[in-house]
Amino acid sequence: MMDQYKKDDNDRVDGIDKVTGKAKYFAEYKVPGTTYGVLVTSSITKGSISSLDTSFAMKAPGVLGVLSHLNKPSVPGYEQAGGPVMKIFYSNKIYFNGQPIALIVADTFERATYAATLVKATYSKEEFHTDFEQRLKDESAKKTIGQPDYKRGVENAYQTAEVKLEETYTIPIETHNPMELHGILADWRANNMVTVHAKTQGVKTTQGTIANVFKIPMENIQVNSEFVGGGFGMALKTWPLEIAAVMASKHLAKPVKLVITRSQMFTMVGNRPAAVQTIGLGATKDGKLTGITHRAFGETSSYETFTEGVVNMAKFMYQCDNVNTSYSVVPMDLSTPIWMRGPGEATGAFVLECAIDEMAHALNMDPLEFRMKNDPELDQQKKLPFSDKNIKEAYRIGAEKIGWSGRNKLPGKLQDGPWLYGKGVSTGVFNANRGKASVKAILKSDGTLLLQSAASDIGPGTGTGMVLIASKVMDIPVEKITFELGDSSLPPAPSQGGSATLSTVGSAVNDVCVALKSMIAELAANANMATTAKYVDVLKKNNLPMVEITKQSQAGSEREKYSMYSFSIHFVSVRVHSLTGEVRIHRIVSIGDSGTIVSPKTARSQMVGGAVGGIGMALMEESVIDHRYGRYINNNFADYHVPVHADVPEIDVHFINKPDPYINPMGAKGMGEIALIGFSAAVANAVFNATGKRIRSLPITPDKILA
Ligand code: MOS
Repeated sequence: MMDQYKKDDNDRVDGIDKVTGKAKYFAEYKVPGTTYGVLVTSSITKGSISSLDTSFAMKAPGVLGVLSHLNKPSVPGYEQAGGPVMKIFYSNKIYFNGQPIALIVADTFERATYAATLVKATYSKEEFHTDFEQRLKDESAKKTIGQPDYKRGVENAYQTAEVKLEETYTIPIETHNPMELHGILADWRANNMVTVHAKTQGVKTTQGTIANVFKIPMENIQVNSEFVGGGFGMALKTWPLEIAAVMASKHLAKPVKLVITRSQMFTMVGNRPAAVQTIGLGATKDGKLTGITHRAFGETSSYETFTEGVVNMAKFMYQCDNVNTSYSVVPMDLSTPIWMRGPGEATGAFVLECAIDEMAHALNMDPLEFRMKNDPELDQQKKLPFSDKNIKEAYRIGAEKIGWSGRNKLPGKLQDGPWLYGKGVSTGVFNANRGKASVKAILKSDGTLLLQSAASDIGPGTGTGMVLIASKVMDIPVEKITFELGDSSLPPAPSQGGSATLSTVGSAVNDVCVALKSMIAELAANANMATTAKYVDVLKKNNLPMVEITKQSQAGSEREKYSMYSFSIHFVSVRVHSLTGEVRIHRIVSIGDSGTIVSPKTARSQMVGGAVGGIGMALMEESVIDHRYGRYINNNFADYHVPVHADVPEIDVHFINKPDPYINPMGAKGMGEIALIGFSAAVANAVFNATGKRIRSLPITPDKILA
């Protein structure tokens, strides 16, 4: 079968490994003598453990050890001031329901799972708060931890505008739920040498965290993470459960594999925090924005502060002289949230982009026309020109593809039998990041090129993009190039997050290839060869089996002169059943404006994945807590709904694909986040257009439409 498939240069370099099962994920590694860890978790939400009886578990078949605050193996980093905030098994304090209180290690996973049921805990309970919206009613809870307020021009100018609106929007907790469960395989050997197979978005981050917590040198720690089965932000941090596995491996002098359960994924590895946001917009009657006020509350845990860029977009997306924003977080008796795809911006864009639609409706203007009218020439926040922005072109292309002219301006008026039809649009934006990375290039006399960097690939196809960049610079066919990643011993690269990998690591690939070419040109000159001589011939003539070079690359001062963002436009066409409130999305057009598209196939997949995630955010995803107990009640894939194939229509992806002249040598900007950011607003706006109902709380479920 395989040979019937026609390969092309844009294929994923690891595509066949992935679909044939050859690609290995952390839990699939087998280390001789591996033991298995299972976590026992708190059944209360706040308070302390009064007693913990692990004696029955210890006597269960196959059990090798139990870790808890009672035996508390020494962790030097936990003793120091400024160490991690959540110190696992360090004290008897309980901060959230589902907090690990013990780790059972046994010779098989099944025996560890059984023994975990034998641990008996009693608690001293305290009053707790898990209901965010309820908590916000208590003014004293709104302590100002968060980010500084922002203001330009007149504060709350919207209040005195010719046309104004003020509305409050809510989004619930969402849980990343990648297919692959989280965990780690930790192998602590003699002389404090540690090897881990991890699920991580950054092998260097994992290495650094372990070094810091256990106070051993970075060089002692080898982190491997070649394949990751989805991250979406939850694997940007080395979580306490991973420290527990390393701790157990050290304590028992055995490799310990710990893979958490699906329900533990809801409490141990973060989530998109719930948010309550109020937005005020003011405009002149002819449709010029005169005031934007965006105030947001997010949640954090009681033991750690987590903030994200919820109100960023309001500061620069639209031309408006009077903008003020505030954002603060409220400690809840839940585990600490973390970035989830389009972090912050996806939360904020839902509100800003719905409000823009609401204002357009109030002005009796087309929402696209309203956006065009308020499209800024300059970034008013940074007071800089945009490095590259083609929003108007993106609007035009998308409008044509979705058939925007056929949209009925009056909501709730396009009906066919029980179905109401509507179209919506929204914009997404995310900072076009570029960090610092190093790449090593090894060119062999057989004509193959090996590139190495401690970068990660959580699924977008990092290796594929890097190989395409190298192929272009070196003029070597893609099948002769290999990119190695996910290994902490390789030249350093940052974590895969914030849509920065292609820009950051890709630039280093570009730079190392440019350096390699001039190195070979020099060798050619030394050997009196023509500058056009083949690489292989130059190496042979110089009697070199290979040449290698390492380059570090980072952004320069161009970032002080230009405002750099990636943009997206999402068009959605929906039908809503007038009797059941069911929303079906029947077309999606997503336009990406993110500079040069280096890897067309994986770039398209990013946009498709973002749209699918966006359908989930808009219509389904919500982590529900029973506030009587502070416990998640839909912490499984039967009850936590994500889109399935039947929920996903044709997705038409288009890229502007023009190089950003300033961002990096490729002219390419990240697009992992913009694929999702704004999408939920496009759905909400389409639902409004179809039904005349403005749903300001996600997810948009039938009960809200029928209410
Ligand atoms: Mo992304 S939320 O930066 O993995």
